[in-house]
Amino acid sequence: MNFFTFANPTELIFGKDSVQKLKEKAASFGKNVLLVYGGGSIKRNGLYDQIVGILKEANKTVYELSGVEPNPKLSTVHKGIQICKDENIDFVLAVGGGSVIDCTKAIAVGAKFDGEIWDVITRKAFPTDALKFGTVLTLAATGSEMNAGSVITNWETNEKLGWGSKFSYPTFSILDPQNTFTVPRDQTVYGSVDIMSHVIESYFHHGTNTKIQDRFCEGILKTVIETAPIAVEKLDDYEARETLLYSGTMALNGILSMGVQGDWATHNIEHAVSAVTDIPHGGGLAIIFPHWMEYVMSENVDRFCQFAERVFDIKQESMSKEELALAGIKALRTFWNSIGAPSRLSEYGITKEQLPEMAAKTVKYGPFGNFKKLDQEDALKILEAAL
Ligand code: NZQ
Ligand code: ZN
Repeated sequence: MNFFTFANPTELIFGKDSVQKLKEKAASFGKNVLLVYGGGSIKRNGLYDQIVGILKEANKTVYELSGVEPNPKLSTVHKGIQICKDENIDFVLAVGGGSVIDCTKAIAVGAKFDGEIWDVITRKAFPTDALKFGTVLTLAATGSEMNAGSVITNWETNEKLGWGSKFSYPTFSILDPQNTFTVPRDQTVYGSVDIMSHVIESYFHHGTNTKIQDRFCEGILKTVIETAPIAVEKLDDYEARETLLYSGTMALNGILSMGVQGDWATHNIEHAVSAVTDIPHGGGLAIIFPHWMEYVMSENVDRFCQFAERVFDIKQESMSKEELALAGIKALRTFWNSIGAPSRLSEYGITKEQLPEMAAKTVKYGPFGNFKKLDQEDALKILEAAL
């Protein structure tokens, strides 16, 4: 294991009807609250009315930023920052999926930052403060509800970049599985792929004596493999939604990365693809991850054998190590396809001509990935295989 320290300041409030806890929380918000949400799902399922009711009852003045898009745009972050400055916002409340939460993180930091927020996202400047913010999560996927990460797309430069700071942790996050019943089938699939991808990014490292980390990862992966098909089949299955929601948080709240250095190359490549084509994050990951695996497998084939044996229960028997490793990758691809995830970039209308631009974007900060360092040419080969 590597040396590590761990701290996570987000208070997690999890369970049936947990939205009621917002009443207690609202006491510490101050007067002016900015409510941030997406394209309207919370209006259709009644959550908006419930939350505005609680805020009004607590005598808050509620301002709104609606229409945060999946893969949130920098221009939307700018709108939110302006509202915070114009209306003296005291607290920001995100109600939605990862996109709404990520946008809120940038707004909260940008509201207290004397300069252009894109400079923070591109790591040219560093924040020193932020407005306090909380979240009510409506989709199991990113883990954004309990981490500092945020991913924002700048459509002027075609860049989709992740950033984070100690000021971008939510103060609290409310997770009620019932609020995820209305997540459509395709988003349920993408979310499940994203959760598994976060675990897999943490799993492929070169650390030694990581028995606890390995079993945590394998446990979450096996659980999502058992549970996602149930949720996809019956969208309002409480137990399946509850399990996915908890899995999503545990997959990326920092616990799995204690003492290990995860890879994250596939996320970098997917963000480059989304920056050009705006495809859903989980859809992109389902396509790219197995190709990344095949590309880097020889770096540590034993690790891939462990993945095949422990996650998919594939027995070695007469297989060579390479065959076993490949069988594990195939099983992952087959599982994702079985729940309805895509397997080719061309399914999103992506063409060969677009791939070099995507590959170039992966190296904005130089070679990337930790399991195997990749450069632009490697990224292009993986993208070509995924087309
Ligand atoms: O906008 P609304 O109308 O709310 O609809 C959303 C959106 O269309 C819908 N949805 C969400 N909750 C719903 C619902 N529909 C019905 N009922 C509900 N309860 O689902 C669609 C997708 O929402 P989005 O927030 O975009 O999905 P997700 O949570 O998967 O977030 C994806 C974004 O997070 C980034 C991704 O790159 C992408 O931009 N990521 C953020 C990370 C982080 N902060 O740590 C890590 C991830 O790896 C990821 O990169
Ligand atoms: Zn992800």
